[in-house]
Amino acid sequence: VAPFDAGGYPVFCGDLRETFPGWWQSRRYGAVLIVADDNTLRDCRPVFLEKSGLPPGLPVALLPAGEVHKTLTSAEAVWKVMLEARLDRRALVVNLGGGVVGDLGGFCAATWKRGVDFVQAPTTLLAMTDASIGGKLGIDFQGIKNAVGVFRNPVAVFADPDFLDTLPEAERRSGLAEVIKHALIGEPALWARLQGEGLSRLAAGPAFPPGLLEASIAVKLRIVREDPQEEGLRALLNYGHTVGHALESFFLNSERPQSHGAAVGTGLVVESYLAWGPGARTAEVASAVLEVFGRRPVPEAAFARLWELMEQDKKNRDGLVRAAVPGEEPFSLRWIGLSRGGLESGLRFYNLLR
Ligand SMILES: NC(=O)c1ccc[n+]([C@@H]2O[C@H](COP(=O)([O-])OP(=O)(O)OC[C@H]3O[C@@H](n4cnc5c(N)ncnc54)[C@H](O)[C@@H]3O)[C@@H](O)[C@H]2O)c1
Ligand SMILES: [Zn+2]
Repeated sequence: VAPFDAGGYPVFCGDLRETFPGWWQSRRYGAVLIVADDNTLRDCRPVFLEKSGLPPGLPVALLPAGEVHKTLTSAEAVWKVMLEARLDRRALVVNLGGGVVGDLGGFCAATWKRGVDFVQAPTTLLAMTDASIGGKLGIDFQGIKNAVGVFRNPVAVFADPDFLDTLPEAERRSGLAEVIKHALIGEPALWARLQGEGLSRLAAGPAFPPGLLEASIAVKLRIVREDPQEEGLRALLNYGHTVGHALESFFLNSERPQSHGAAVGTGLVVESYLAWGPGARTAEVASAVLEVFGRRPVPEAAFARLWELMEQDKKNRDGLVRAAVPGEEPFSLRWIGLSRGGLESGLRFYNLLR
């Protein structure tokens, strides 16, 4: 399996058996430490060890699963394990998990002794197509997502779709939002294929048709290669996320929090409506999002708070709330200014979809 070039490091997509051993033999590492969470320790570590050929006794730094544990406390626990395992600069850290393990384990590796090598072995759809690529690492701090972190690239990424077999369906659906986003910003052929495969079937799983993962990864790769430090084009990856993040925060403390993907799905619809109005382009996005996530109306009582949340978005410039949406050509970026009235009409448009 030939890897993608992420601008200095390989991204392998396919069976680990065919990708990892060859890569491993070309490197000379001392100790190896696996970072995992409860679920990936149980479901993914056996698969990883069996396929990679690494010995079963490797030390593991274990995190409790979930975004609430993407904290300094967890990072400290990982550094402690690194200390106990006497990891030196010749060591390799393997982050085996979703975006939480990848961001936090990568952050710990990047800061340990001023940086030891790490590989990302993503096990969620979101981590395979999005979080494991691009070198952004970090932890949440004082309730602020990704408040502390660094840019540092892994030495390799190994995305093996077999890990998706044990991924809970809700996580799979959530990750599909990024796949849809990637198709819309850069890959009309992927977009056509997603619609052809039937998004509700893809969401239900379990099998994930070959080629889809690669196509989605290729979009993220091209963007981070062109804009590694997030100075311009990379903002396009935020399509759906200006409104989506506000919704995710808003529902976070409700009885029924919303998945990142479902919130971004609604965000994709609302931002499309604001960019292009209610025409065919928006209708296509809306029907894809409804197929994967269904519709969860946004209560009118939430509109004011959502606007407040969006006013705090870090992409804003000069007090203007703005969102990044695709331009006419693939991989082109267009900024749109948002107003409170606009947001409200977009949310009402979404609420009335059927
Ligand atoms: N670095 C980046 O560029 C980037 C980009 C997007 C998102 N992120 C970050 O990614 C995080 C979200 O990642 P996520 O959605 O992967 O969440 P996650 O890492 O919390 O994983 C979701 C859940 O699935 C479980 N799980 C993971 N793989 C499994 C498998 N194969 N089988 C069974 N269970 C499995 C996990 O234990 C967890 O409970 C956020 O913290 C976000 O900030 C980072
Ligand atoms: Zn996202």
